[in-house]
Amino acid sequence: MPVEEVSEDNGLHVALIMDGNGRWATLRKFPRIYGHKMGIEAVRKVIEAAPRNKIGMLTLYAFSSDNWKRPPEEVTHLFSLLKSYLRQEVDSFVEKGIRLVFIGRRDRIAEGLRAEIEAAEQKTRYGEALIVRIALDYSGREQILMALADLPCATPEALSFALSGVGKDWPVDLLIRTSGEQRLSDFLLWECAYAEFYFSPIHWPDFDGKALGEAVGAYLQRDRRFGSIKT
Ligand code: FPP
Repeated sequence: MPVEEVSEDNGLHVALIMDGNGRWATLRKFPRIYGHKMGIEAVRKVIEAAPRNKIGMLTLYAFSSDNWKRPPEEVTHLFSLLKSYLRQEVDSFVEKGIRLVFIGRRDRIAEGLRAEIEAAEQKTRYGEALIVRIALDYSGREQILMALADLPCATPEALSFALSGVGKDWPVDLLIRTSGEQRLSDFLLWECAYAEFYFSPIHWPDFDGKALGEAVGAYLQRDRRFGSIKT
C-alpha cells in the first residue's frame, strides 16, 4: 500500500517537537526544570484534545539521543518527571482507550524506568481510541539504521512498518514544533517524508487544546499532492 494512503482511515498522525520549556521558565525567573514540569501539563491538554481534532496517533519527542549532552541534573529530572507521569496516567489511559508506545533506544534507560515503560505498554496495549508514542533516547537516523540491520529485505513498506512500533505503517501527516524553532532535529526522518510542517511561536508549556486545534485547522487547509498534480 502506498505510504501516503494509510492515515485517512486511522485518523491523523501528528508529531510534536515540544520546544521552549527552558525559555518559558527562564522568562519567568524559574529554574528550567519547572518549565519541564509545566510542559507535562501541556502534554496532558494536548492528549485530551487529540481525539476531537481527528488525531489517531500522537508522537511526542520527549528526549532525543542528543539530549544526553544536557547537564546531568536536568536529564535526571526529565526522567523522573516521566516516571511520575507514567505512574499518574496509566490507569486513566486504560480507561480512555489510549495506547502508549515508546520508540527509541531502551538500553541506556535506567532499569526502574524501563520496567515502568514496559508495564505501561502492556497495560494499555488494547487501547484503540488514540495511540500516544513517546520518543525517548530517540535518534531518527539511528532508528533507520537499526531497523535496516534487522530487515531481511529492505523495502519502503517493510521499513515504515518496522519503525512504527504499532504494527502498522503510519506516516506523519502533521509535524508541529513550538517556540519558533524551525528544525527537524533528527526526529522521524523517514516518517516525515510527506509531512506538513507547522511552526508555532508558543513556548511548549503554553501550548494547549486550542493551539492544537489551530495547527490542525491550518493543516486541513493545506493541499497535499504527494508529488502529483491536481486532476
Ligand atoms: C524542549 O524544551 C523540551 C524537552 C527537551 C523535553 C520535553 C519534555 C517534556 C515536555 C516533558 C516530558 C514529556 C512527556 C511526553 C511526558 P527545551 O528544554 O529545549 O527548552 P528551550 O529550548 O527553551 O531551552
